[in-house]
Amino acid sequence: MKGVILAGGTGSRLDPITRVTNKQLLPVYDKPMIFYPIEALVNAGVTEILIVTSGPSAGDFLRLLGNGEALGVTHLNYTYQEGAGGIAEAISLAQPFVGDDRMVVILGDNVIGGNIVEPARRFAAQSRGAKVLLKQVENPTAYGVAELKGDRVVRFVEKPENPPSDLAVTGIYFYDAHAFSLIEQLERSDRGELEVTDLNNAYLERGEMSHDVLEGYWADCGESIDHYLQACNLVATHGANRTG
Ligand code: DAU
Repeated sequence: MKGVILAGGTGSRLDPITRVTNKQLLPVYDKPMIFYPIEALVNAGVTEILIVTSGPSAGDFLRLLGNGEALGVTHLNYTYQEGAGGIAEAISLAQPFVGDDRMVVILGDNVIGGNIVEPARRFAAQSRGAKVLLKQVENPTAYGVAELKGDRVVRFVEKPENPPSDLAVTGIYFYDAHAFSLIEQLERSDRGELEVTDLNNAYLERGEMSHDVLEGYWADCGESIDHYLQACNLVATHGANRTG
């Protein structure tokens, strides 16, 4: 399975600290933000990784990470997204790298306390399709949210005003290679983006979407400056990417 980290976007919610650099290069406690998703992948045995980035600081990822060897990456690739056309658009850029393989996509501003070893194992045992990781949150209006009937997810809704549950879709997604043709069929949303929530709903409609609840804490550093601060404090207090 290949790993894909999305490190583009505008970082506008953290302005002005993202005005001259990418959000994912900012520190989270004692390391640059991008180190955390890389560690999460390496802990799960995913060591062939593509970083999708954008903006004038894109070259700084290369300066920071080099070939990734120091972080346990065996093969580090980079690609560039023109503009910020959405998470699904960024995923589509991974097609030449992923080919017919499967992928785990992690948003470059997500930090986790635990690991994704078990979900990755369960996804590997799945014959096809996709898997998302859900997490109970206090502010579901800020995220993609799962609507459930019993244990079954029936729909994902992006940043709903009236959330159907308090289960957010974290920025960790498992997909088979069919994702690329599903993305080709997506239409841009009102904000002009190819939405990952639409991709996830496409898998749901095909009956090929599973979900797990993520163990340990989950932080989306890009949600607001307060969440960014919270993420730094979580890492300082509890550590991150625990393997035990
Ligand atoms: O963190 C989880 C949430 O991430 C999900 O619950 C939402 O369903 C999903 O849409 C996303 O929401 P955000 O508002 O947090 O997305 P954001 O625009 O902050 O982008 C997340 C990451 O993806 C960030 O590291 C930047 C990167 N990105 C984003 C866009 C729009 C790209 O690389 N390219 C892009 O075009």
